[in-house]
Amino acid sequence: MRLEDILFSQGFGTRRVCAGLVQQGHVQIQGQSVTDAGEFFALQGLHVNVQGTDWPYQDKAYVLLHKPTGTECSQKPTTWPSIYTLLPAPLRQRPQKAAVQGVQAVGRLDQDTTGLLLLTDDGQFIHKMSSPKHHVPKVYEVTTKHPITPEMVTTLLTGVVLDDDPRPVKAAACEALGELFLKLTLTEGKYHQVKRMLAAVGNRVEGLHRSQIGALGLGDLAPGQWRWLREEDLALLKPAISP
Ligand code: URA
Repeated sequence: MRLEDILFSQGFGTRRVCAGLVQQGHVQIQGQSVTDAGEFFALQGLHVNVQGTDWPYQDKAYVLLHKPTGTECSQKPTTWPSIYTLLPAPLRQRPQKAAVQGVQAVGRLDQDTTGLLLLTDDGQFIHKMSSPKHHVPKVYEVTTKHPITPEMVTTLLTGVVLDDDPRPVKAAACEALGELFLKLTLTEGKYHQVKRMLAAVGNRVEGLHRSQIGALGLGDLAPGQWRWLREEDLALLKPAISP
C-alpha cells in the first residue's frame, strides 16, 4: 500500500495531511526517513514511526483501556472528561468503516466505575461482544455500603427483578470476598445493572471496578493507560463470541 494511504488508514489525518507528514520528513520506517508519500510498503508486520511515535499497522484496531474514575464513556460528555481523550488522536480519527468512525467503546461503564474497557473500530466485534445471545461474562468487583449477607448472595444468584423488566436477572457467579466486598459475574449488560441489582437486595454500591471480560484481565495496566490487544488477547475473547 502507498505510504500516504497507510497513514490515512491508521488515522493520521486526511490524505493531504499524511502526504505532508511524509514530505516534511516526519515519517520513518525501520529507522529510515521516507519522504516519498507514494512509496509502497508491505503491510504485514509494518511499523511506522510518525513524529517519534512508533505505530504498528493494524487493519482493525482493538485496544484495552483501564478506565479511571471520573470519566464518561460518551464522545460528547456532559459533566466529566471523555474516555476518548485518554487515547491518541489517530485512534479517534481512523477513517470510517461501516457505521464506525474511529474506535468505539464496547459497551459503557458509569462515570464512577473503573476498570476494563475494550474499544475497536470493528463493528462486527462490537455487535457480537454486546449481543445478549453470546452471554460474554464480565467480572465486577463491588464495594458495598452495608455488610453482605449470605441471603443477598443467594438472591443475586437466583435472580432479582429490576424496575424495567419483569423477567428476573441473575448473576452467573457471586462470591463475598469480605464483609463489604463482592465479586459478581454478569453475562448481560443492562443499564446500571450492578448498582440496581445491589439496590434490589437492600444494599448499595460504594465502589465498582470491572476486572475481567471473558478470560481477559487488566494485568498491570494502570488507570488511564491503554494498550493494543495482542493476538493472544483476542484469542481469549474469541471463544466467548464464536457462533
Ligand atoms: N453496572 C453498573 O451499575 N455500572 C457500571 O458501570 C457497570 C455495570
